[in-house]
Amino acid sequence: MKVAIYPGSFDPVTNGHIDIISRAATLFDKVIVAVIRNPDKTPKFSLDDRVDMLKASLKKDRNVVVDSFDGLLVDYAKKKKANIIVRGLRAVSDFDYEFQMALTNRKMAPNIETIFFMTDYKYSYLSSSFVKQIAHFGGDVSELVPPAICQKLKIKI
Ligand code: PNS
Repeated sequence: MKVAIYPGSFDPVTNGHIDIISRAATLFDKVIVAVIRNPDKTPKFSLDDRVDMLKASLKKDRNVVVDSFDGLLVDYAKKKKANIIVRGLRAVSDFDYEFQMALTNRKMAPNIETIFFMTDYKYSYLSSSFVKQIAHFGGDVSELVPPAICQKLKIKI
């Protein structure tokens, strides 16, 4: 059974994340979307909100589940018996950080492989930070995030 973890802050989830999750769900038996409890940056949305927003945005794919984690990603992956970490790559600018993270995780857990999905070109510029900025200044984010998130952003920001 191929179990993959797709970890992130998801603050909030964007259409780019949804695209990666849908594509990963076609390749792996199970995809666990794992929301980190305490990201490096202070999140705009609480952990519960970030998990709920993902659940509201995802089709009821039978092989996708949403969960949260704390601590080292590789420890969480081992606990879930997952040996694949999925990450999305947008532009070259993502590469350094992702490369460093993948190698660090491999050093700690050589049996866990990181697999990168190239973003769809439609989402290559998209980030949760810019979505929050646009929403903050009253811009239209309806094409950038799932419908359920649009509403949440309006209420929150
Ligand atoms: O969406 P993000 O913020 O880029 O996700 C980053 C995340 C959550 C995948 C990364 O920060 C992480 O795995 N944190 C857990 C702590 C950890 O395992 N650190 C060591 C490897 S970098």
